[in-house]
Amino acid sequence: MSPGGNESQVRLASGRPGCAAPGLRVPPLHVDLVITDQERDNLIDSLGSVRANPYRHYEDFCAEVRRIARSAGTPARLREYAAQRRAESAVDSPTGLVKNAPIDPSLPVFDHEEPVRSKHALKTTFVAEGFLTLYAELAGTPGISYENANLGDVFHDVYPGPGSAGDLAQKSLGPISFHRDLANHFVRPDYLYMLGMRSGGANAVHTTFASNKEVISRMDAASLTVARQSRFETPGEPPVHPLVSGAWGLRVSENRTEGLDAEAESVLRAVVGIVHAVKRGIDIQPGDFVIICNNHCVHSRELAEFADPAQLATRWLIKTMNVDSRGPHARHLVDGVPYMVRSEPGDAFE
Ligand SMILES: [Fe+2]
Repeated sequence: MSPGGNESQVRLASGRPGCAAPGLRVPPLHVDLVITDQERDNLIDSLGSVRANPYRHYEDFCAEVRRIARSAGTPARLREYAAQRRAESAVDSPTGLVKNAPIDPSLPVFDHEEPVRSKHALKTTFVAEGFLTLYAELAGTPGISYENANLGDVFHDVYPGPGSAGDLAQKSLGPISFHRDLANHFVRPDYLYMLGMRSGGANAVHTTFASNKEVISRMDAASLTVARQSRFETPGEPPVHPLVSGAWGLRVSENRTEGLDAEAESVLRAVVGIVHAVKRGIDIQPGDFVIICNNHCVHSRELAEFADPAQLATRWLIKTMNVDSRGPHARHLVDGVPYMVRSEPGDAFE
């Protein structure tokens, strides 16, 4: 991606429990594309006119969005950006950021006890879902859902769940160590797409990323030799495994993966240190569309500034999980539901 946007460093200023270390500085994620207000408003109009409900008739919804993707209503620059990413290596560009993406004009506040069912009842426009689907169509990366997660919906909410209103929001939106999503699931998504809906304000919640290639490139030869050996384990994710495999494969789950001996543990700690040294971050704002190549980087979340509990209690991002192709996963999909991964005993969602 062409570097752009603000290259000044984001300051993570806080000393509160659960927050990032005081004075920690994280370089911001590059802004790849800023959609103009006119382009955004046109997309709000066209995506807002889609009739199918994505939570009831997902495939009909996709078919309508596909027509928009092929029409002049889709900005040429967005089409070119998706094509550019397809032409580039995800190893070299494992993240992406588009700003000023269209979201729904009205953003209901969901019940914290049953947020997904509350969303189904209260959300009557589907602009954000439309944009996530539009980009997936342009990029050729279909969405998937999981039979036993999120009521089988493709669209997930990053939203405080049961018992997390008020002060507990800090806990529910607190730090998440570096990881890949569904690292040990038999259908691991290739991409995570996230769109900011209601975020920002006085709080600072930083989503951070570290590129596998950048991490591995910084390792010395001796560490790399150890990291390529099966001398590590991640509890709940057998068998023992190397940290580094293939050209740029990195398997590490911070605070979970362990070295099986002192030398392996030392290398693991060095790798985690490099992850933090090369990370970039973003405090996702409404209309920020973030692309994560789930197999080419690790990501985390840091609560950098906790100043407004009420705002944090209703912070909301929409997210989808996507794959390069559903074909290789066909044997895991629910009969007659070509986007839904079947629940199987012992899978990562159980
Ligand atoms: Fe994640």
